Amino acid sequence: ETSDLKALIEKRVRDVADFPEPGVVFKDITPLLGDVDAFRAVVDALGDGYGPIDAVAGLEARGFVFAAPVALALGAAFVPIRKVGKLPARTLRRTYDLEYGSATVEVHADAFTPGARVLIVDDVLATGGTARAAADLVREAGGTVVGFSVVMELAFLNGRDRLTDVPLRALTTV
Ligand code: PRP
Repeated sequence: ETSDLKALIEKRVRDVADFPEPGVVFKDITPLLGDVDAFRAVVDALGDGYGPIDAVAGLEARGFVFAAPVALALGAAFVPIRKVGKLPARTLRRTYDLEYGSATVEVHADAFTPGARVLIVDDVLATGGTARAAADLVREAGGTVVGFSVVMELAFLNGRDRLTDVPLRALTTV
């Protein structure tokens, strides 16, 4: 039942004050990863109901932890979207603004077969900058973004407003 899943996630995601810097409340997913039943339920819910999926793209680093088991569960390929400079072959890249400075993410240019049905998975949707870059990269690489699943959405940062062209699923919203 979905409200049970929300309660389970909220119980197992720990707020850590003033990390990584003063004033930020960090959402720590490690208790969730340490609870086998909760982790399994989350992986199932992230990938459920999208229809056939050819590839699951995960965002470095915490997104990888959820995206890889979702890929296996769906019988789909796993594709890493990484921070700049980590992927060895030819890449496509997107740079986006952070509160201070910018970030760049990359995907291998040959990661998807043309028209592949792609589900993107991450742990947290915050400002949506990472998610927007990921969706744009998947499309530039020839994939079709069928959905974007996150464990937790931080609604007060309005990241959803930057993803209006992508079906977005958040297992819980805080
Ligand atoms: C976090 C989180 C998302 C992103 C969300 O990753 O895992 O990928 O930020 O933020 P946004 O919606 O404001 O873009 P982070 O960059 O901290 O990387 P990590 O998983 O490697 O710690």
